[in-house]
Amino acid sequence: METIEEKLSKLVSDTLASLNDINSDLDRELEDLRVSVMGKKGSLTEILKGMKDLSAEMRPVVGKHVNEARDVLTQAFDQAAKDMEADRIAKQLAAESIDVTLPGRPVKRGQAHILTQTSQEIEDIFLGMGYQIVDGFEVESDHYNFERMNLPKDHPARDMQDTFYITEEVLLRTHTSPVQARTMEKHDFSQGPLKMISPGRVYRRDTDDATHSHQFHQIEGLVVGQGISMADLKGTLELILQKMFGKDRKIRLRPSYFPFTEPSVEVDVSCFKCGGQGCNVCKQTGWIEILGAGMVHPQVLEMSGIDSSQYSGFAFGLGQERIAMLRYGINDIRGFYLGDQRFSEQFK
Ligand code: DAH
Repeated sequence: METIEEKLSKLVSDTLASLNDINSDLDRELEDLRVSVMGKKGSLTEILKGMKDLSAEMRPVVGKHVNEARDVLTQAFDQAAKDMEADRIAKQLAAESIDVTLPGRPVKRGQAHILTQTSQEIEDIFLGMGYQIVDGFEVESDHYNFERMNLPKDHPARDMQDTFYITEEVLLRTHTSPVQARTMEKHDFSQGPLKMISPGRVYRRDTDDATHSHQFHQIEGLVVGQGISMADLKGTLELILQKMFGKDRKIRLRPSYFPFTEPSVEVDVSCFKCGGQGCNVCKQTGWIEILGAGMVHPQVLEMSGIDSSQYSGFAFGLGQERIAMLRYGINDIRGFYLGDQRFSEQFK
């Protein structure tokens, strides 16, 4: 009969041979082999059962051999598992190698919304003329939106600018003009004249249709200093409108009325499509009404703590949607707000 030592050394050499032959792709095979040798019902355990028949002197001697065999096997299995893992990683790396010379996948490029583009273009022009760009509040007080713009509580011109009230005194601003008052009262005129524009969203209680929206965008402009005249207003607007609609454009001022300017004007630009001959864009008049403007009302200056005997200013307000609709032939204002890519993507 084989001795325990013989069984052990046969088990070790057989197991090492099997480990050599194992398919390195199959973790399962290694695990099965490990269980069949080292597991609770494995061959090593089986051999150990024979220990109980040994004499007391032989037991520690054989026991030492058993421990050595177990160590050898444990180490061999650990090493095999490590080799397998290294092999697997090496194969995976080889399979996944990247060809850096392949052309990249094109990334679809987006673009700023057409109203953002319009506003940025206008901002750039004014920045170039030394204006600052000021942010206002969309939630505004009645005080700044109306009172400070020379529209006291019962002024009939308030009717044209009905809006969404949060309380009796707090509302969604109906125009960007309140930024005039907020900027004027803070300006330090010892540092020079005030020159600012303020783009932003405004609200009116209006029924939405192709040309009206309860929410739209304006750009307010304001210059206050010593000796500012109507000629400055005209020159500034002519320059900006030529940049927006072409260098051959002419402008014309027509008398108008706004409570916060005196005198007030409506500004027309000569038609960029027909050059003034008359066409469908200018409704056969040769002129396109583009914005409201005027000389800042002395009362508005005084309410912001500015001495109207020393200082004067001009202001204007233009509608961003109107500008974009004219320039790009957009005929429905609702297109701006739908978030439909078929609309947006046309303005790359
Ligand atoms: N705030 C006016 C509106 O919403 C537009 C406007 C007109 C602004 C004349 C101005 C201005 O600054 O001078 O209808």
